[in-house]
Amino acid sequence: MKFIVAIDGTAASGKGTLAKKTANHFGFKYLDTGILYRVVAYYLKSSEIHSEISKQNIQDSLKLLFNKDFQLSLLRNKEISLKASIISKNKIVRDNLLTYQREFAMQEGGTVLDGRDIGTVVCPNADVKIFVDADIEIRAKRRYNQYLKHNSNLNLRDIIDELTKRDNFDRNRQLSPLASAKDAYLLDTSNITPAEGFKKIIQLISKKLKK
Ligand code: DC
Repeated sequence: MKFIVAIDGTAASGKGTLAKKTANHFGFKYLDTGILYRVVAYYLKSSEIHSEISKQNIQDSLKLLFNKDFQLSLLRNKEISLKASIISKNKIVRDNLLTYQREFAMQEGGTVLDGRDIGTVVCPNADVKIFVDADIEIRAKRRYNQYLKHNSNLNLRDIIDELTKRDNFDRNRQLSPLASAKDAYLLDTSNITPAEGFKKIIQLISKKLKK
């Protein structure tokens, strides 16, 4: 059985957590597509590549993700978040990652992919499409609370600025901008709990699976 769930949304909207839980619930395979852009950003930075990005660069970046000694936590910081957003407008980067994402999505047994352009470009024929969003202050507050466990020198204003900047880059780039597909279900998590958001997604998928 092939069944694709596309979950897109703004930065720190909670889409990743919802997508992971959804995949676990149905026994589907899960791909966080943001990590692909992040690892390319990390690779380019650490290899000090300033010339034109090549297909080989992208392949070498992805190899890092399959290296068991590579620490994924290196990809989750402010610098890499912003760099990932900047390099994601590059055509060579997008084209090469597109192939990888589509192959992943087409696997048997059901897949969940989360990102910015899954329902619009990567998998326009996905069986279920969801677009997750929440007010910027609420997203920033959630991110602030997550970061607080690791870093006490935080400022909520800085997080609001970072998320706003990234959403603007992602929404306004020419290629595959952050956007909700016309047939996506809009899930605004501003005033609901993660459990309520998750329940809604389960309902949408279950309904489609029964058809
Ligand atoms: O989901 P994330 O915050 O880890 O994504 C990091 C950046 O990667 C995001 O700001 C833009 C880019 N990205 C993208 O352009 N397309 C995707 N499908 C996923 C992420």
